[in-house]
Amino acid sequence: MTARVISGRELAEQICGELRERVERLKEKGIIPGLAMVRVGDDPASISYMKQKGKSAEKVGVYSETIVFPEDTPQEALLKKIDELNHDPKFHGILVQLPLPQHIDPRTVIEAIDPAKDVDCFHPVNVGKLLIGEPYLLPCTPHGVWQILLRSGYSPEGKHVVICGRSNINGKPLFAILIQKKAGANATVTVCHSRTPDLARFTRQADILVVAIGRPKAITADMVREGTVVIDVGVNRVPDPTKKSGFRLVGDTDFDALVEKAEAITPVPGGVGPMTVAMLMWNTVTAAEFQSGAA
Ligand code: GUN
Repeated sequence: MTARVISGRELAEQICGELRERVERLKEKGIIPGLAMVRVGDDPASISYMKQKGKSAEKVGVYSETIVFPEDTPQEALLKKIDELNHDPKFHGILVQLPLPQHIDPRTVIEAIDPAKDVDCFHPVNVGKLLIGEPYLLPCTPHGVWQILLRSGYSPEGKHVVICGRSNINGKPLFAILIQKKAGANATVTVCHSRTPDLARFTRQADILVVAIGRPKAITADMVREGTVVIDVGVNRVPDPTKKSGFRLVGDTDFDALVEKAEAITPVPGGVGPMTVAMLMWNTVTAAEFQSGAA
């Protein structure tokens, strides 16, 4: 059996279309959703991600500004900027691109963002709300994974979802989303991680397998049974002299082998990545609706 390859790009387009309509309704009320994106330093991956976010904002009609600080910026200067953005009514959403330089504490920075404008959903208040089943916004990548499943006809309702990876950005919040007592969620979720002995014992039990480990080919064909839906969250740069950039992007699964076995699989690039960006726009529009009393 050859798997269905789910295009995150197409689903992201669909979502952006829906968002444009919501933006139009806000504009009729004189509100333009605004997103402030802050970067410290020149990490190449961060530059690339932020470019994609800026392009997507333009596409859906969100006003965005990218604010760049030099690598050696003191933490205090960054916190001062965040305070300004918190009080600037032009911006309904603020994100600080991670990773930050070593001398800056990411937790202090994240906690300085007004939770109402926290479109990454990284602030502990928003993480806590999600965990108690009363979310404000949903974090972008796990929300993107959920939307891929729902919009491709693979609702996690009643299914056994196995997540590989327990990061604060992916694994943990995805677990919180999928165990919600809510239509389209209600999954039974197993979270595996780097200290899970015999990972394959768990991955073989999955109806839906989500991989967010950060290592190429971490999941091989023998670890997956036929009929599994595989969502690959990994974004790894591997050297490729045939590319102008010198690298290409691959996920965390052995895609070529899994595509012969799984029911469905997301590619890298073109799978979860574009959905993460679309969900950031979703959150910015939703934050603007909340802040303007339109939600
Ligand atoms: N770095 C990698 N992924 C993300 C993300 O989703 N948000 C932010 N702010 N930084 C990131």
